[in-house]
Amino acid sequence: MSSAMPSQEYLDTLVQYYEEEVEGEAYFAEAAKAYDDPLVREKLELLAECERHAAESVEPLVRKYGLTPHSAASLQESGRKDAQNTEVNWVKMVEGMNKTYPGYLDDFKGLEALGPAEDQQRLNFLTEHEVAAIEFLRLEAIDPADSVGPLKDYLATDPTEWVIAAE
Ligand SMILES: [Fe+2]
Repeated sequence: MSSAMPSQEYLDTLVQYYEEEVEGEAYFAEAAKAYDDPLVREKLELLAECERHAAESVEPLVRKYGLTPHSAASLQESGRKDAQNTEVNWVKMVEGMNKTYPGYLDDFKGLEALGPAEDQQRLNFLTEHEVAAIEFLRLEAIDPADSVGPLKDYLATDPTEWVIAAE
């Protein structure tokens, strides 16, 4: 295990991705409010919870390195504004996520590659929330009544008990 000081690129990216999860939680929670369909609301609320769980999983790393994210209040406000500027159309939202999420997955893997060995469990657990979201989207296309399993599994997992899968 390396105890060398991680690169500035790693620290900057870590705090940026942490902030994006805090924003993302507020985004999905706000988006949920715009839908009457209880099934869609539940999905958006679960996505919000996954964003929070992902943020909380790397928060100890943010603290360990003494990083200073923007305030939660300002990040949440920005997430809410994004949601208010998004068309209330679940099909389009799913289409958008299908387009952008694979790229995010690569970004999270890139963060893992920058991080030291002792941070890998939490970094990979952060990546896993995107894996779960992509699997949710795949199932959503097959049967929207039975798609939330991967999100619930992610929420039921404690980051300190997370085991990184062998490649
Ligand atoms: Fe996220």
